[in-house]
Amino acid sequence: MRKIFPADDLARDGRFMRVNQMERMNDPRTANRPGDDAGEPGQTKKRRAFDFRPDMPDAPDAARSLMHGIFMGEIQALEGAGRTCWDFEVGDGPEQTPFELKLNMARQCWDETRHCEISVKLSEWMGTEIGEFSEATFLYEAACNPDPVMRLTGVNRALEGLAIDVFNTMKEFGNTVGDPILEFCEDWMLADEVTHVKMGSDWLRRLTEKDPERRERALEFQRIVDKIFSLGGARGEEEDSPIKLARRFRELAGFATDEIDEIAGISHEARFEMDERIAAKVAALDAS
Ligand SMILES: [Fe+2]
Ligand SMILES: [Fe+2]
Repeated sequence: MRKIFPADDLARDGRFMRVNQMERMNDPRTANRPGDDAGEPGQTKKRRAFDFRPDMPDAPDAARSLMHGIFMGEIQALEGAGRTCWDFEVGDGPEQTPFELKLNMARQCWDETRHCEISVKLSEWMGTEIGEFSEATFLYEAACNPDPVMRLTGVNRALEGLAIDVFNTMKEFGNTVGDPILEFCEDWMLADEVTHVKMGSDWLRRLTEKDPERRERALEFQRIVDKIFSLGGARGEEEDSPIKLARRFRELAGFATDEIDEIAGISHEARFEMDERIAAKVAALDAS
């Protein structure tokens, strides 16, 4: 069986729609969008007339889109963890992995398989058809990095860290709207995600203990992924951030306070840049 399996060759049936990351993020049904009045000439644009609240008419669609995106992530996390069991020889070299790391990845495969099953049933419960929203393969691509430490920072710490924030937000949304199925599905997956992120934190520290340059490269990769997947600042700590940074669960997953502060800062920066882009677009529309 070949090593480093390309994303284009991942097996999907006809229900799934593959797009690039930019197209996925530009889907107007997501939580990552400006307020409805954005683009109206002469109007002061509101940043984000959106939140996961029962009185927000767009909340159900955004929740369905978000959870379908998570479902795609569960499939790819399973595929990525499976690849990490296979792609490397056992050893302590930079392109090898300790056997215990492979055991962790095997356990993760088991969890992600269960998350796929939960996600399929939750989609049905939420009124979503598989393939109703598109699939981008960024998570799997991050899991193809030739350095296993990069895989664990990009996937386990950055993207599964985002999953912690999403699951916690959706769990609270389920509680607020009185939907115990949504709430408990999120709670169960959240518990496993904390373990997966903790694996990433532990292996990052262990494998780079004597190699500060490798650690810095891995952390820089994580910062880039964290910025892209703060979803234009939709994930953050502002009062109106639709997806809240879940500090307590991140601490349990091995993040130090200054690391969580840094992610909050990256999200704030991404939000500022998104605001600038929206303002420029509105100004261009006004001018035309
Ligand atoms: Fe998962
Ligand atoms: Fe996971």
